[in-house]
Amino acid sequence: MNAPPPDFLPMTRPSIDEATIAGVCEVLRSGWITSGPQVKAFEAALSQYFGGRPVRAFNSGTGTMEVALRIAGVGPGHEVITTPLSWVATSNVILAVGATPRFVDVDPLTRNIDLQRIEAAITPATRALLPVDLAGLPVDRDALYAIARRHGLRVVEDAAQSMGSRCNGQPIGSLGDLVSFSFHPNKNITTIEGGCLVLNDEREARLAEQYRLQGVVRSGFDGMEVEVAGGKFNLTDVAARVGLGQLPHLAQFNARRQELARQYFAQLRARGAARFGLGLPVEDFANSNWHMFQVVLPEERLSLSRAQVMEQLLAAGIGTGVHYPAMHLFALYRRLGCRPGDFPVAEYTGRNILTLPLFPAMRDADVARVAEELMRILLSVAAA
Ligand SMILES: Cc1ncc(COP(=O)(O)O)c(C=O)c1O
Repeated sequence: MNAPPPDFLPMTRPSIDEATIAGVCEVLRSGWITSGPQVKAFEAALSQYFGGRPVRAFNSGTGTMEVALRIAGVGPGHEVITTPLSWVATSNVILAVGATPRFVDVDPLTRNIDLQRIEAAITPATRALLPVDLAGLPVDRDALYAIARRHGLRVVEDAAQSMGSRCNGQPIGSLGDLVSFSFHPNKNITTIEGGCLVLNDEREARLAEQYRLQGVVRSGFDGMEVEVAGGKFNLTDVAARVGLGQLPHLAQFNARRQELARQYFAQLRARGAARFGLGLPVEDFANSNWHMFQVVLPEERLSLSRAQVMEQLLAAGIGTGVHYPAMHLFALYRRLGCRPGDFPVAEYTGRNILTLPLFPAMRDADVARVAEELMRILLSVAAA
């Protein structure tokens, strides 16, 4: 692979400070590198952040959701309602526990599951709702839990992207049913790979521990029992030490993301984004953690494909991404009966959404550069 040019601006980049790097070295030298005291300390710090709720750390935000569904009693014969516009982990975990995903189209403005359409998708087999806070913009929890209560459903919140987002002034995760976060490197805080699950009580926390590691329960010096078929989802102490170094920076990271997002709105609008019909995110500076800044290209006004726009941006030294194509159109989900046209808003958004660079270490000048290049490319083809 060619090395990127020196002025290459990636779509995202983690900020890991020297104290964390030194801390990781200490763990590596300590003789205990898998799950141990660092994981316990990380879980305690997370629990404090989430208002004292029980938290268990995992090696991915996919494992957390699979285990959350098992704890919620979801299995074969059950249906789980979710969005078609997410990382495919969201629906794959529903299949992994033997249940069926029931997709509900997204709201074109929030790009999150359309809460108005959920009730029409509920059947006697529905057991849970699995909403996603795309780009960190939270789904309205009051409306969501009102539906869940009316129909006696569990909720597994896929909050993979919304660490530090808020709802009614409270951090996402501090309220609600089962709440799952990811600490993948592109997330607002990272453990390299990892995740955590916020639970309701100690019984669920014990169950989470069992599902996390082969179902094993130890007692005394040599006692071992297995009651559930758990998997292998434990976080290493090395990863947990990275997380312990990241968590104290969360508020400052998110404040910088918010500042950069404000600049994106100003820079894109100043260059005619609205006139051109570029879809901008909801301007939410109260609740979103600005995990991503995503625009939706107006395909009907473009003679370039999204891939060509991405290619031209890359040629200008700017990395972009696609989060995400609509999941129900993947071959796996078509085999299960999903068809093009089933969820038109998610399909349009999935075809045209583009993630622009956004990460705490970005400079103000980087935002101006991205806005200028993007609008130059779009307006040049619109005029042609
Ligand atoms: C919305 C969403 N759900 C689930 C996941 C899965 O998290 P992980 O990659 O940690 O397994 C991600 C991670 O990208 C995500 O963005």
